[in-house]
Amino acid sequence: MKSKHHTLDVELFERWGSTYERSWMQQHLFDPVHSAVLHQAASRFKPASVLDIGCGSGRLLRKVHDYWPEARLSGVDPAHKMLEVARQLTPEARFSMGSGEALPLEDASVDLAFSTISFHHWRDQAAGVREVARVLRPGGSFLLADFTLPTWLAWLLPRVHSAAQMRMLFEQAGLDVQAQPGPVARFVRITIGTKIADD
Ligand SMILES: C[S@@+](CC[C@H](N)C(=O)[O-])C[C@H]1O[C@@H](n2cnc3c(N)ncnc32)[C@H](O)[C@@H]1O
Repeated sequence: MKSKHHTLDVELFERWGSTYERSWMQQHLFDPVHSAVLHQAASRFKPASVLDIGCGSGRLLRKVHDYWPEARLSGVDPAHKMLEVARQLTPEARFSMGSGEALPLEDASVDLAFSTISFHHWRDQAAGVREVARVLRPGGSFLLADFTLPTWLAWLLPRVHSAAQMRMLFEQAGLDVQAQPGPVARFVRITIGTKIADD
């Protein structure tokens, strides 16, 4: 039975799940992006809880465990096959079926959230960033790494944004943008936002 998160993009990852870890793209795209987000996070944060949204096979969370062995790790993904691989390879983390737009997590329950090369698959990206802001505790941060286009090209692909558009999505969700480092692997930029603490 198809999950309520099912889309054509998710179908692609249901098919790719069993070979995803062996893809040539790990070395050329995903691993360099993981290293870049972890480098950015390690110099800024010491989280007790970490969430990876669109976590795929759990590869980033395994590296997160090496950085912060004490942190509570969760991964969310809408593709059942990806979650199956993630659970086999990543016993350190808890995985749940879900999407960026509907995270199966409590309000203010996460210190640090990541999402790598997943955001362009989200159907309602503004709702997704608001949802991440909901689950972050005040002062918690979100590192989102995805393909980014220059402003003059960003109109071509509706779900790929310029750095300025990413900044706006974050700010509209109540996330204060700290930095937008990159590019990594030529086309990927990281947006780092922190949930504004209540007074
Ligand atoms: C290219 S993979 C990246 C996986 C992982 N983040 C990594 O860096 O290896 C994209 C992932 O996003 C997931 N995805 C697709 N639609 C999503 C959505 N609406 N919310 C969250 N994740 C989604 C896919 O199932 C897939 O596992």
